[in-house]
Amino acid sequence: MTEQAEKHVRRAKRVLREKREMRQKPFLYAVVCAAGVAADVSKLITSAQERNWEVGVIATPVAMNGFFDTAAVEAQTGHPIRSAWRTPGEPRPFPAPDAVVVAPATFNTVNKWAAGIADTLALGTLCEAAGLGVPIAVLPCVADALAAHPAYRDSVTRLRGMGVRFGDPYAGETDPDGGRAQFGWERALDLLGPPPVAGP
Ligand SMILES: Cc1cc2nc3c(=O)[nH]c(=O)nc-3n(C[C@H](O)[C@H](O)[C@H](O)COP(=O)(O)O)c2cc1C
Repeated sequence: MTEQAEKHVRRAKRVLREKREMRQKPFLYAVVCAAGVAADVSKLITSAQERNWEVGVIATPVAMNGFFDTAAVEAQTGHPIRSAWRTPGEPRPFPAPDAVVVAPATFNTVNKWAAGIADTLALGTLCEAAGLGVPIAVLPCVADALAAHPAYRDSVTRLRGMGVRFGDPYAGETDPDGGRAQFGWERALDLLGPPPVAGP
């Protein structure tokens, strides 16, 4: 990184810290990707709120297309779901994040994020949060056949190397007896640890 870029990142971190100190509650971004388990994302929001996080959801455009109940999530969080970029004149709808959870994280989003692609608001947010040193926890939901792809293994290794915290692999596949393991929503919050104390 050039000296100039380092200066900008230091400044952005300082501004984030100052804004955080002004708020009543720490703010958690929940990034939701287009996997079937997203239908239960309200469980993550409830657990996060119980741990004193204020939650704002950023969904990928595909996830907005029927993967979860968007009206219920907006009612639960008290914030509109963000999915598209704001226009240049619009104010930022969410405060800066104190932490980010990606749950469920798809094969597609993990690979694009690791490659530095930012063609959705969710990906742009993830790329930037990592650069600002914001804590990020990821719960992948990726079928074993896709998780075996070398690009995916490389992506996870690369993101871990950036300090991103991963929950256990979850394939979402049914057992021979027809059952399916629970998706461990709470694990994402455990990986972040207790929220920072916010407020003046
Ligand atoms: C019903 C349904 C369930 C899906 N479940 C998963 C999943 O569990 N994991 C995954 O990686 N992709 C899953 N996909 C495929 C993704 O939706 C697809 O790759 C999409 O491009 C991901 O976009 P996103 O990463 O921007 O959310 C599913 C697709 C459908 C239609």
